[in-house]
Amino acid sequence: MSYITSIKRRKAIYVTIIPMPKRLRPHVNPLSITKEYSFEGFNNNNSIIVDVGACKGEFTAELLEKFPEKNFVLFEIRIPLADKLRKKFENNKNVVVFDGDGGRNFESILRPSVEKGIKLETVFVNFPDPWFKEKHKKRRFITPKFLEKSAEWITADTEFVFQTDQKFLFEETLETVGNSLFSNIEFFKEPPFGIRTDWEQAKIKEGDEIFRMKFKLHCLNNICKMRRGV
Ligand SMILES: C[S@@+](CC[C@H](N)C(=O)[O-])C[C@H]1O[C@@H](n2cnc3c(N)ncnc32)[C@H](O)[C@@H]1O
Repeated sequence: MSYITSIKRRKAIYVTIIPMPKRLRPHVNPLSITKEYSFEGFNNNNSIIVDVGACKGEFTAELLEKFPEKNFVLFEIRIPLADKLRKKFENNKNVVVFDGDGGRNFESILRPSVEKGIKLETVFVNFPDPWFKEKHKKRRFITPKFLEKSAEWITADTEFVFQTDQKFLFEETLETVGNSLFSNIEFFKEPPFGIRTDWEQAKIKEGDEIFRMKFKLHCLNNICKMRRGV
């Protein structure tokens, strides 16, 4: 009897000391990650597509299939995911992955290419972390400061695509964008190129509505086009 009990006890102890797999943190405060990167660009003159918060890279993979000649820059703040993305795209020379905060590194990674005349075609901000609390708004990707800084170097042919299932975030971002130099805004209904991201697919299953807009620099009488040499 005591033997059985001791086996049971040993089993119980054994179970508790098995190392648990590390869980992926659901949210990382981008302002706490200060890593900085630089990137001189790709070895070709083809246009660049950016996926901010690329997660598992399914969206990029489908885009890559449709546009194999284009270049892709992926930002993913969670290091385990960024490592998996690097592995996933290791045979694609036209895909680069950066961990760290996409907002902090956006200009240093992309401006050198834009200054060489490479087209920064689309920046996808798909289902970004909403950061609900007022005091956390600075952690969002699209902020007044980000747009103000980006307007200094981004050309009028770059399109930002913003998609979310959070109505309040959509409305607040719309206000931020509308008050910036990127006030050339269009709403749209269907997912870009018919590709639904993983997050969107999950939200649609839950019956959620999806909100989408795209925006560019607003040019008055082509003045910004001329000023930026587009
Ligand atoms: C809600 S998920 C959406 C993932 C994917 N875009 C989709 O639509 O399926 C947000 C993703 O953005 C990443 N992320 C959040 N803040 C980021 C930042 N500042 N820079 C880069 N990635 C970020 C998260 O780690 C997460 O993978």
